[in-house]
Amino acid sequence: MIKVGILTASDKGSRGERTDESGKAIMEMVGRIEGNVAAYRMVPDERDIIASALKEMADETGVDLILTTGGTGFSPRDVTPEATLDIIERQVPGIPEAMRLKSLQATPRAMLSRGVAGIRNRTLVINLPGSPKAVRESLEVVLPVLRHAIEILKEQTGECAGK
Ligand code: MTE
Repeated sequence: MIKVGILTASDKGSRGERTDESGKAIMEMVGRIEGNVAAYRMVPDERDIIASALKEMADETGVDLILTTGGTGFSPRDVTPEATLDIIERQVPGIPEAMRLKSLQATPRAMLSRGVAGIRNRTLVINLPGSPKAVRESLEVVLPVLRHAIEILKEQTGECAGK
């Protein structure tokens, strides 16, 4: 069982002006890796608010994995990657590289997502873009490696051979 936190960054969503289809898409997909959603937050696109929500999920709720959606683009309000970099200790560049590489086959606009991934203590944080379609396309790429990634992070395995 993987303990999952979901954070949706959306000004409109946080004002109740939009339903969170992207968060819902994440919830459905993590079921495929026995993810148990232990925390869910919908927050405005504010760097400090996003950073403290991520910290709380990692340090207090103790989730293994945080998946964020939204706020990775070019709008001046898009600050999810900056908030994530504020709280992670080690970056994991391969994850956003793989997501963008694969997503570019779906749309050249994939290169416009500035999402990052990284580790805070025993929690892996991954930024996904905002639309439900982009969430599905991006999460599909990383889903197969998440269980192994989290096992290593929690020192439940040191074994990478043959994978
Ligand atoms: N990635 C995938 N796989 N599919 C998409 O449709 N949309 C892109 C990109 N990544 C997209 C994608 C677009 S149009 C934008 S502007 C950026 O993600 C940033 O989105 P965000 O600001 O909602 O996070």
